[in-house]
Amino acid sequence: MYLCVSKVIIMRITHISVECYPIAKVGGLADVVGALPKHQNTAKTVSQVIMPFYDNEFTQKHQFKVLFKEKLSLGSESFAYEILSLRENELGFEVFFVKIPDLLYQEYVYSHDDINRFLAFQIAVLDYILTREEKPTIIHCHDHHTALIPFMLQESYKYRSLNRIPSILTIHNATYQGWFSYDKVDLLPKFNFNNVGLLDWNHSINSLAAGIKCAWRVTTVSPSYMEELQLNANGLENLLHDESEKCVGIINGIDTGVWNTKTDPFLVKNYVQRTVVSGKKANKRWLCEAFNLPVDKALFVFIGRLVNEKGVDLFPELIPKALRKNDISILILGSGKEKMQNELETLKKNNEAKYNAYMGYDEKLAHIMYAGADFLLMPSRIEPCGLNQMYAMRYGTLPIVNNVGGLKDTVIDLEEEDGYGIVLNKLSVPEMLKAVDRAVKLRQNQKEFKKIRKTLMLIDFSWDASANQYLELYQTLIN
Ligand code: GLC
Repeated sequence: MYLCVSKVIIMRITHISVECYPIAKVGGLADVVGALPKHQNTAKTVSQVIMPFYDNEFTQKHQFKVLFKEKLSLGSESFAYEILSLRENELGFEVFFVKIPDLLYQEYVYSHDDINRFLAFQIAVLDYILTREEKPTIIHCHDHHTALIPFMLQESYKYRSLNRIPSILTIHNATYQGWFSYDKVDLLPKFNFNNVGLLDWNHSINSLAAGIKCAWRVTTVSPSYMEELQLNANGLENLLHDESEKCVGIINGIDTGVWNTKTDPFLVKNYVQRTVVSGKKANKRWLCEAFNLPVDKALFVFIGRLVNEKGVDLFPELIPKALRKNDISILILGSGKEKMQNELETLKKNNEAKYNAYMGYDEKLAHIMYAGADFLLMPSRIEPCGLNQMYAMRYGTLPIVNNVGGLKDTVIDLEEEDGYGIVLNKLSVPEMLKAVDRAVKLRQNQKEFKKIRKTLMLIDFSWDASANQYLELYQTLIN
């Protein structure tokens, strides 16, 4: 399981995920899987990713070579699959792609038929690992889409030779668990049926629960979220409580190579700490022109999925009230439930030149918003880690956040010692309005505001510390 090069023992980490930036991104999972391996590639560690091959812009624009071709069994059906790698790889880590033309190879990452697609993906991954001479030292799975791998490693007859490879499951969001009915149990490679209970949670198969039970270690993406999960994990709180000894919270970092105001190619104007005022102004001007907003008012932005978990259900009441009370402007970028999108679109009618919203996702626009905004709103009800608050701070934008999960671990309220953000104690429209008042008042004192912006830009959110914590965790397993 180890590779020895002139007496140096190399640890091989294989990350398995259905998203990875810049190849396929829906949310923060992609950012983490696209950054962590880079920081794990050291003299003693080789970190790689195995992910699905989608029919998307990245795969259309790049060239691949086929490394391996086989067929996999999904119950009584058989699917041809290929393992591919990039002809030229500038990502900073190796990626293996699983292409299953008749199942997984689609334009989208997620849809309605994901159980079969991702189950086939997980089987292909393990079948492929079986054939490889160099086995991983650690198999690191991400979220429920890959959480059956620890179960299969432990229980499937076929993978018996791999069952001593330690598996880690990182939970990026426990709301989504990959449930499916027992009708599909035969899709899994044969295992000792006496242990079928390992798949079970509340009389159905629950991929995340199976992963929590079978992985050697379970991590989540912030210490506070780990604590919260033991109280509320969308039904899995008792399980997480029982398994707490093997659970640990490790805060995510951000990719400071991608998120760098000095070099970010998406920005209208690049800037550093010293030029934060003029740099932010140029980006703000671009935004305000593009979205018909006043350039001189405090600009509050929201970037993210439009789901209740992110607290956006407060917006239809909050936005008109905040705009009436204060002379500010608000810009939203996101997509989600149709009802929410419609409500946010409707708000445009009565709030022209003060409020605007772009429904969808646009990486360039997101970068310019982090740079051009004065404040970032993040009223999440649940936030396992949250990366947006860190991107914002790195770009000199002050975050206004709810006191949960990773937000709690990364933002200190201005009223506390060495504070640099605005943290709500309770999530409600009146509390949010108070936070907006505080923000407006703060911005009136330009000298102080400028100082805080500079402080924000200096906070170290790089992966270094967290990548080390993961390495230490792996070490405990292979020792
Ligand atoms: C999920 C979580 C988010 C976290 C991200 C990366 O998207 O909702 O809080 O930052 O995963 O771990």
